[in-house]
Amino acid sequence: MRALVTGAAGFVGSHLSDRLLEQGHEVVGIDCFTDYYPRAVKETNVSSPRSRARFTFVESRIQDASWPVLLDGVTHVFHLAAQAGVRSSWGSDFSIYTGCNIEATQVLLEACLERPIERFVYASSSSVYGDDVAIPMREDARPQPLSPYGVTKLAAEHLCMLYHANCGVPAVALRYFTVYGPRQRPDMAFHRFLSALLADRPISLYGDGEQTRDFTFVEDAVAATVAAGARGVPGSVYNVGGGSRVSMNQVIDVMARCTGRTPDVRRSAPQRGDMRDTFADTARARVDLEFVPRVTLENGIHAEYQWLATSLPVTP
Ligand SMILES: NC(=O)c1ccc[n+]([C@@H]2O[C@H](COP(=O)([O-])OP(=O)(O)OC[C@H]3O[C@@H](n4cnc5c(N)ncnc54)[C@H](O)[C@@H]3O)[C@@H](O)[C@H]2O)c1
Repeated sequence: MRALVTGAAGFVGSHLSDRLLEQGHEVVGIDCFTDYYPRAVKETNVSSPRSRARFTFVESRIQDASWPVLLDGVTHVFHLAAQAGVRSSWGSDFSIYTGCNIEATQVLLEACLERPIERFVYASSSSVYGDDVAIPMREDARPQPLSPYGVTKLAAEHLCMLYHANCGVPAVALRYFTVYGPRQRPDMAFHRFLSALLADRPISLYGDGEQTRDFTFVEDAVAATVAAGARGVPGSVYNVGGGSRVSMNQVIDVMARCTGRTPDVRRSAPQRGDMRDTFADTARARVDLEFVPRVTLENGIHAEYQWLATSLPVTP
């Protein structure tokens, strides 16, 4: 495989690049180091794939890249680049979301036309569902995003399916459910909570803590992504959830056990656009991708805590 990974300096994209390289594939990574979180963190993420042979890194926005050159010989595209984060997608920053999430996807899909690409795997999100679908969430439920971020992720997913149906791009979309683990983005709850515990600072929790999430360890998300590149059915959407659906209050209890520290929890107002519950029905991914999440919440939290304790990440 000669793979193109967009968002290769990001949390999931850097792990995916590592995994593909470990498997002996060639990887071209592209990232423009958006300022959503510090460049230094992304430089550290990408230093891992960069240290391996067969990895080429290109610093560029997707919208500005020389695609005929970059796609030369590429057999698989893994499109993970995006402006992430639900909360900052309201207000004037929305244009960043439309640019990074919708326009960039359209540019990449256009660039893939008439090329011998075997799979185009798009990283979608559980945020496309919103609160009005039955739990566990099935891919055939009608998505009704609650946040502008979710709208842009869904629009890009539709673009992928449109380019599949009309132009034959072999697109597969994966709806990731809250991914965590080493290199997790600094704005995400596990990173914030575990850093606070390490530094003996209070944990800031939005809402009553009874909201639930289906947490997915990054290595499991990466395994599903590689499998989608190999055998995802073009035109299909797959949920990728770790199967650990717990409330945020329960998460904090697990963190207290794993770290041996006593959390000081400060509650603040629920955030606009945050879903109440997420829980993936992963039957389709199990059949087509042989996706079986392997890492328990306890082990995953332990791994992220060890990473935070031994690295010096920039905390918000
Ligand atoms: N982390 C999660 O829990 C989660 C959940 C659901 C979906 N996702 C999706 O998975 C993907 C990866 O998420 P992540 O948490 O690793 O995010 P991340 O922010 O760590 O990584 C995304 C990377 O994309 C880069 N990027 C953004 N726009 C770009 C552009 N126009 N051109 C080039 N590079 C660009 C950024 O600089 C960043 O390094 C995203 O598409 C995200 O929407 C993530």
